[in-house]
Amino acid sequence: MLLFSTDIDGTIFDGPETAEIFANFWQNLQELPKQPLLVYNTGRSLDDVRALIRETALPSPDFIIAGVGTEMFEQAKGKVIDEWNAELSGHWDFETVHRLVSAQIEDIEAQPDECQNEFKCSWFYYDKSRDDLDRIGELIESAGLEAQVIYSSNRDLDILPRQANKGNALRWLAAWKEIPLSRVAVAGDSGNDSSMFLVDDTFGVVVSNAEDALVSAVAGGNAYLSEESCARGVIEGLSRHLGLDTQSLSNETHAQG
Ligand code: GLC
Ligand code: MG
Repeated sequence: MLLFSTDIDGTIFDGPETAEIFANFWQNLQELPKQPLLVYNTGRSLDDVRALIRETALPSPDFIIAGVGTEMFEQAKGKVIDEWNAELSGHWDFETVHRLVSAQIEDIEAQPDECQNEFKCSWFYYDKSRDDLDRIGELIESAGLEAQVIYSSNRDLDILPRQANKGNALRWLAAWKEIPLSRVAVAGDSGNDSSMFLVDDTFGVVVSNAEDALVSAVAGGNAYLSEESCARGVIEGLSRHLGLDTQSLSNETHAQG
């Protein structure tokens, strides 16, 4: 494994304890001959992820893919990767998407401003069916735009440019870093993670607390469904994948030093 792309909430983090557990595991992976790159791949905004890293034990990553694949950040350089944003701008217009959805879709509520960005138009839309989501996709296409509609937790609706999403962003980053996808692993728990599992040749861990929509979306692929939940499930899956001794790696005491 040369790169590990993981969702944050519900996957490696649900509070201080899981942050410590994951940090300890990641620290212990330094025993590997080559330390893999760590990529946080999340629906949170970039600012929000950076604050979370400062405030918790979560290890500092090499890259952050934020806003469901709409923002990319290189930690060592402390800067946004503009080349990725340039990939997203064709056939997309935030204002048009926002206006059409507000005017034509019922029972929908815009998420707070801090959850929106130029390439991510997000809403609360409770307990909807695939048909409801398809209707939104068609509405946007009818305006000549190329969007995708991603639904998570039976609540969160993200409308993104066709080229965005967690999986496409990951594929682009791996190519940029010249890392073969067969050396990439991913982990997640909800609908917006499914595109990561659909990246060819990657190994994936679906944690036991994952929503059914993710479990069905990855069925038939080579994802590992863990018995443990959240960070412990990630450790279980990666340890198997890497042939590591789970006992020594999941040791929940603080790493030395
Ligand atoms: C995070 C984001 C939210 C998004 C959701 C699902 O909760 O804050 O904007 O809709 O992930 O992708
Ligand atoms: Mg999650």
